[in-house]
Amino acid sequence: MQHEKIEKNIGLMIVLIVVAISFGGLVEIVPLFFQKETTQPVAGLKPLTALQLEGRDIYIREGCNVCHSQMIRPLRAETERYGHYSVAGEFVYDHPFLWGSKRTGPDLARVGGRYSDDWHRAHLLNPRDVVPESNMPGFPWLFENDIDSRHTAAKLRALRRIGVPYTDEDIAGAEAAVAGKKEIDAVLAYLQQLGTLIKSTR
Ligand code: HEC
Repeated sequence: MQHEKIEKNIGLMIVLIVVAISFGGLVEIVPLFFQKETTQPVAGLKPLTALQLEGRDIYIREGCNVCHSQMIRPLRAETERYGHYSVAGEFVYDHPFLWGSKRTGPDLARVGGRYSDDWHRAHLLNPRDVVPESNMPGFPWLFENDIDSRHTAAKLRALRRIGVPYTDEDIAGAEAAVAGKKEIDAVLAYLQQLGTLIKSTR
């Protein structure tokens, strides 16, 4: 009797099908919200400094994340090329995540410390000076633009509200920490810390 009711009421049937199918997803996804492995920062994880955070915003503004992913999958081809696979605990202070999947250029999840600052400067000014076959665009304006420090403190405050443990001193000192610096300094500070908490096997 019950079954007949469902079969004759397509609206009810759709709702019940959606509920039934969602269960599969929920069973996989919901436990992740409560698992330490996915919600706890890895040992030593610190919020980005004001300078690194401005660098991250410039990275997003320039669309670096459109060509570069920041997630090494646990596959041999990836770990041999990029280093230890990415773990969730490395990203708990990342808002929004920049994992991505489009790789016009290499993954950058563990690029921190791989090249010198001088290499990055030359590369970001004109990639072909250091990698002749590169089709990455140059970003010469990063060397001229001053960092806009007006909103730095507000950015830290906003991140604190959603759980990033910035201290009052961090916020009070944020504007001064980036004042007088060029955008390239911020991008470098950001790049050089990427993925450095977990030792690369590479
Ligand atoms: C149009 C796509 C594109 C954009 C946008 C782009 N890149 Fe690249 N990037 C590449 C390609 C392709 C390579 C590989 C060739 C090379 O090393 O130049 C690369 C290489 C790199 C490397 C060297 C990685 C390694 O492991 O050798 C770094 C670092 C890098 N890019 C940073 C950046 C940053 C920072 C930005 C934004 C300011 C950016 N890229 C924007 C395509 C891009």
